[in-house]
Amino acid sequence: MKVPTAILTLIIGILITLASLWVSQNNGLLPIAAAAEATEIDRLFTAMLAIATGLFLLVQGALLYSLFAFRRQPDDATDAEPIHGDVSLEIVWTAIPAMLVLWLGIYSFDVYQSIDSVGTMGSHNMAHQHGEMEMVAADQGSDSTRLVVDQSDVSPDPLSPAVATETVEPLQVNVDGLQYAWLFTYPDTGIISGELHLPVNRPVTLNITARDVIHAFWVPEFRLKQDAVPGQVTHLNFQPTEEGVYPVICAELCGAYHGAMKTRSIVHSGPEYQAWVDSQLVANTSRETVAQSVTTSPLEHHAAAMGLPDHLHESHQSDLAQAKHSPSAS
Ligand code: CUA
Repeated sequence: MKVPTAILTLIIGILITLASLWVSQNNGLLPIAAAAEATEIDRLFTAMLAIATGLFLLVQGALLYSLFAFRRQPDDATDAEPIHGDVSLEIVWTAIPAMLVLWLGIYSFDVYQSIDSVGTMGSHNMAHQHGEMEMVAADQGSDSTRLVVDQSDVSPDPLSPAVATETVEPLQVNVDGLQYAWLFTYPDTGIISGELHLPVNRPVTLNITARDVIHAFWVPEFRLKQDAVPGQVTHLNFQPTEEGVYPVICAELCGAYHGAMKTRSIVHSGPEYQAWVDSQLVANTSRETVAQSVTTSPLEHHAAAMGLPDHLHESHQSDLAQAKHSPSAS
């Protein structure tokens, strides 16, 4: 019995579609999604993976099939039939990928805009940078309404317009990348930390810059990555949704120890975060007292240390280590 080609094609098409959807839904490639923005990124990734899997199965399947179906028969010594191409086939296999790429491009841009990780462009004088950061921080107060509205899309309860209109002030954190460490400054409390501590379910704005060369701030669990550029302030706006400890990785080759430029991002519950803030304030006060007796404040000391050549960075690194080892409530 011979199955008609149309039906066979339909069955193969359905099988490839089902296999592609299954692979994209069960890929196991991504770490947990710890920020509200991650769901949109994951949806985009799933769509791309489904398309890629489908194309892979289609192309490799056709290749393997041809390998066996069209191999030379033992008694066949004739030349192959000359074929000069097929215009309609070429139009189809050009138009479909072109449409897919266009759709993916529009979809990606849409996701990119909705997660609002666009940095401010242009260069700024280093001396004015922290002032600039605070100005930008103030500007972004109005953004938080929009960010919270966005959250309603992923919220399991669609009947909570009260939450959607509530304005939550985003937590501001200034992020400094330097060879080879990350430094987090909390402008509202003056806390300086070598690790990024965040409260869960509160919008965060990171104001990111670099002291020496280009670095990139990356937390895979938040699905967010942003360049840290000397003389510029770039931003990431997001909302952590899962408590936990996640790696902060430098994602731009920045020197010999680029691979070691790692720290942690700790997402706390509200009370736990407050306890960490309190413990840091106590530690800061005692350090400030010590530092003032040697004429410089910790902040000035940091700034001075960062401006020095590489071999003098040890003093800064030891401060970082101190920040890391100060008492934590976690
Ligand atoms: Cu900093 Cu790589």
